[in-house]
Amino acid sequence: MSEGRTLQAIKFDRKEIKLEILDQLVLPYTTHYIQIKSIDDAYKAIKSMQVRGAPAIAIVGAFSVVVDTYSHLKDSQTIGDLQESLNHLVKSRPTAVNLKNAIDDIRKILADYDTTQVIDESIFKKLLDYSTKLYDDDLANNLKIGENGLNYIKKSLEEEKFEGPFSIVTICNTGSLATSGHGTALGIIRSTYQALQKEKSNEKFFLDNIYPLETRPYNQGAKLTTYELEYEKIPSILICDNMVSSLIEHLNVGKDVHEKTSPVKFIIVGADRIVKNGDTANKIGTFQLATIANYFNTNKNTSIKFIVAAPRTTIDLETQHGEDIRIEERPRKELTTLVGPILNGSEVGEKITVGIATPGIQVWNPAFDVTPHNLIDAIITEDSKAFVKNKDGNFDLSN
Ligand code: MRU
Repeated sequence: MSEGRTLQAIKFDRKEIKLEILDQLVLPYTTHYIQIKSIDDAYKAIKSMQVRGAPAIAIVGAFSVVVDTYSHLKDSQTIGDLQESLNHLVKSRPTAVNLKNAIDDIRKILADYDTTQVIDESIFKKLLDYSTKLYDDDLANNLKIGENGLNYIKKSLEEEKFEGPFSIVTICNTGSLATSGHGTALGIIRSTYQALQKEKSNEKFFLDNIYPLETRPYNQGAKLTTYELEYEKIPSILICDNMVSSLIEHLNVGKDVHEKTSPVKFIIVGADRIVKNGDTANKIGTFQLATIANYFNTNKNTSIKFIVAAPRTTIDLETQHGEDIRIEERPRKELTTLVGPILNGSEVGEKITVGIATPGIQVWNPAFDVTPHNLIDAIITEDSKAFVKNKDGNFDLSN
């Protein structure tokens, strides 16, 4: 592990107008920041997953507009030029709606001007103000999501009269590295552990352990979530995506996993797009988690709550149903190869690519799936009330 470990995915210097991102392709082994000097740099960094996670993608996209326009202040970049660059940027990760929302907001700022207008200091200032607010609001909202999620967890366990230790399952990386800080689903886990770890809990229950999923094919869980959990000293045990049913059953019948026996009470996931009826696009594998929770709750007398955590900027009220969400497909090489450094004891060596599939094989690699709203118990946002379904089984996300 390299020196200088950090959870800060995005560094923006407000005086120097300089944007750097933590290269998530080399985590957890190396801490390395790269500078983003233009919208095209941001496009490439987002597309190649050097930065990922719906809120972080939007923030880097917005800040890239700031650094790009700043560097062109002395020449004659026009509103029309910028609009063209935005059309390109929005295509970098199409499923995550936060980037589109940020770009739409920027387009609204630009709509006050003629396309031939040269971008001057005053327009630049508006873009700077918008982007810094996006970042600051995201951090503040994540802290609220954490607190609201903790309250929901406490209320659920109290209502059930649950006592003792419990565990949480999560997928992908939804923490500081995927946002401006704290995180969404992992933010709830952070806040819950801060309040309900065994030594601190004033309740009859305590959070004992987290099971992050490896998250194939890109392994954000294995590489990034474990890194964050270890950084925060939150107890966790990594599992593969296909171990969840076995894990829940194993714990339910009182068997231990490395001496941990606390049952899974919550599956908490992030979101890339939540549409009007509550259907939620998130990392591929999320849907199967919801079906697993539903199976156990229906057949095995368990109560495992399936929680989606996201800022309101992830809610897309213009799209009615999950089937209307465009699911991004990623390169075949994510399934057919693994990329990582050679490890020699504690020494981190050269990065190599190894093949793990039959050469030339056809591959299907959707990055996300859609969990139907009927499998979701609660959607937690920065609003103090958790969104839960009404008696007809419908979410109302509009207010
Ligand atoms: O493909 P990724 O790594 O960008 O996918 C990220 C996720 O699916 C997250 O759960 C989601 O973006 C929410 S991040 C706070």
